[in-house]
This record gives sequence, structure tokens and C-alpha cells, in this order.
Amino acid sequence: MQPVILAIESSCDETSASVIRNGKVLNNIIASQAVHQKYGGVVPELASRAHQQNIVAVVQQAMQHADVKSKDLNAIAFTRGPGLVGSLLVGVSFAKGLALSMGIPLIEVNHMQAHVLAHFIADPKPQFPFLCLTVSGGHTQIVLVRSYHDMEVIGETQDDAVGEAFDKAAKMMGLPYPGGPLIDQYAQLGNASRFKFPDSQMAGFDFSFSGVKTAFLYFLRDEMKKDEAFIEKNLYDICASLQQHLINMLLSRLERASAHTGIKQIAIAGGVSANSGLRKQLHSLGAQKGWDVFIPAFEYCTDNAAMIAIAAHYKFLSKVFTTLDVTPLARMPI
Ligand code: KG4
Ligand code: ZN
Repeated sequence: MQPVILAIESSCDETSASVIRNGKVLNNIIASQAVHQKYGGVVPELASRAHQQNIVAVVQQAMQHADVKSKDLNAIAFTRGPGLVGSLLVGVSFAKGLALSMGIPLIEVNHMQAHVLAHFIADPKPQFPFLCLTVSGGHTQIVLVRSYHDMEVIGETQDDAVGEAFDKAAKMMGLPYPGGPLIDQYAQLGNASRFKFPDSQMAGFDFSFSGVKTAFLYFLRDEMKKDEAFIEKNLYDICASLQQHLINMLLSRLERASAHTGIKQIAIAGGVSANSGLRKQLHSLGAQKGWDVFIPAFEYCTDNAAMIAIAAHYKFLSKVFTTLDVTPLARMPI
């Protein structure tokens, strides 16, 4: 059998659908929500409403592009968590309705596992066991991946996620949400060693970003006392220095985790893995350490349904299905 699965992602502010046939992703339709920009962050109530508005068109588009009819589908997959409950509810309910009406199985997917499994959408694919640094707006984790279904978080942030640190720092500088991609863009034009920020010195493979956030706030406040136009005059250097600091924090833990476990298959995933500085420096660190480095294609870094589809494919092969009374989970351990 060559399973055909429709997958739906709605955990935060992207409504996405993807069709996968026999492990091959046929498409990845994403509707982003511009409505949050003026609020400087995702507004949960508005996110759920936008999902409600977008989901039918997104699913229809995915089915049409793939030239797949309802009768061809063997299962419906959806993100169960972690995420915003109001947003998740839209995808969960839609998936349930479809599965029930078509009489086919339902497959729940953990969003964070899906970020990791995005590495199996296209070649080259990592070999088990591998380490995956999963960096997004809500999470910063080092995951030890033993198989498609067996993953263990061996290090994680004790407070904010690194994506949040990027976004909050951008907000402090008056940049629009989400600020991560903008900091990345400006950082490419600046001097990364001009300003220094403190590291949290967490033990083991854990992270902490709340201290950097506060230090950055005080740094801007102090500099602006001396010169009100400090940010405008130094925007590129500030972005480059901050980004470099955040990258150092991420890569130092990853290096430690690799040395401790002896694993040299190293991957990154999640929205922040779209960061050009992180991608470049991970490649050069990998070359230095003899690692095989895996970085997903750009479109599979940020939230998307293709990663839900590939995770669902492996669950389908292992016959792991979900019952129709399933509910979304704001928190869902890997
Ligand atoms: O995985 P994702 O799309 O959504 C969550 O599950 O959180 O990650 C979104 C995060 C945001 O914080 C965004 O600013 C960050 O990823 N991000 C970036 C870049 N592109 C997206 N951060 C730094 N540089 C980028 N190029
Ligand atoms: Zn995500």
C-alpha cells in the first residue's frame, strides 16, 4: 500500500495543509496571518479566527494541487500540540470532521517531533541516533533522536525561547513582529564583535535567554540616555552583535552535547534555523568537528504542514492512530 495522507498544521499563526503519498510530500500550502503584525506578537483570539477563515481554502488548495480526491485519502493527520489551544482546536476539529465523514483513521502529531522529522522530507537525511537543535518562537531544545518515534529532550531553555529573544529584542528596537528575520537581514550588514552581552552559563545542555533580554534592554536604555538616535545610527551593528551572541549560546551547548554523547550527526530545526548566520556557522563548526550537519530547506524550517505529513507517514506505517475524542494540548512533551 502507498498511503496518501492529508496533514493539517494550526498550532500558532500559520494555517497549513500538505498531502503526502508514500512518504513523498506533494505540496505544502501555507497561509500566514498578517493580522498580528501591528500588535507586536501573536494575539491568540485573532489567530484562531484567522485559522477558521483560512482552513477550508488551504485544505482545498492542497488537495487540488496534489490532484487527490477525498476517496484517495487513507488518513487525516493534525497537530495536537504544543501550541495555542484556540488555534489547535480549529485544526483538530477540522481533521476529526473529515476523518469521521470519510471513515478513515486520524493521526495526531506532536509539533516539536514534526520539526525534527522535517529532516526526512528530502535528502540528505540524518542517520539515527542524531542530535537536533530545535529552535523556534516557543522552544529551544536539544533533542536526542533515536528513531522516528523515540526522542528525548536532553537540554532545553529554562525560560524564554531563542526565537522569543530575537522577537523581543526586535520589539525593543521598534522593529515589527516577527523581528527574527529582520535582525537576520540587518545583521548581515553589521559588525558582530562591536557590542558584548552576557551568557547565562547554565550547566549541562540547558539554555536561558531571559538574562540576555534584560541586559539588552538596559544596554539600549543606557546608550539612548547618551544619544537618543543610538538605535538608528547603530542598527546593523546592534543586530549583528546580538545575533552573534545568541548563536554562540546555541552552538556552545550543541558542541557540549555532541562531545558528551559522542554523536556527530547534527541537525537543526524550527523557525530560527532559517537564520542565515546560524546556518553558516553551524556548517563551519561542523566542518571543524567532523560532524555531518543537516539543515532543512527554508520552507520546512518555520511552521508548515509538510513536517506534520512526514511525521504522520511514519505513524501510519507503525499503525499508530488516534481516537475521535482527542483534544488539543497546549503543552505536549516530545
Ligand atoms: O517554528 P516557528 O515558525 O514557530 C514556532 O513554532 O514558534 O518559529 C518562529 C520563530 C519566530 O520567533 C521568528 O522570529 C523566528 O522563528 N525566525 C527567525 C528567522 N526566521 C524566523 N529568527 C532568526 N532569524 C531568522 N531568519
Ligand atoms: Zn514551530
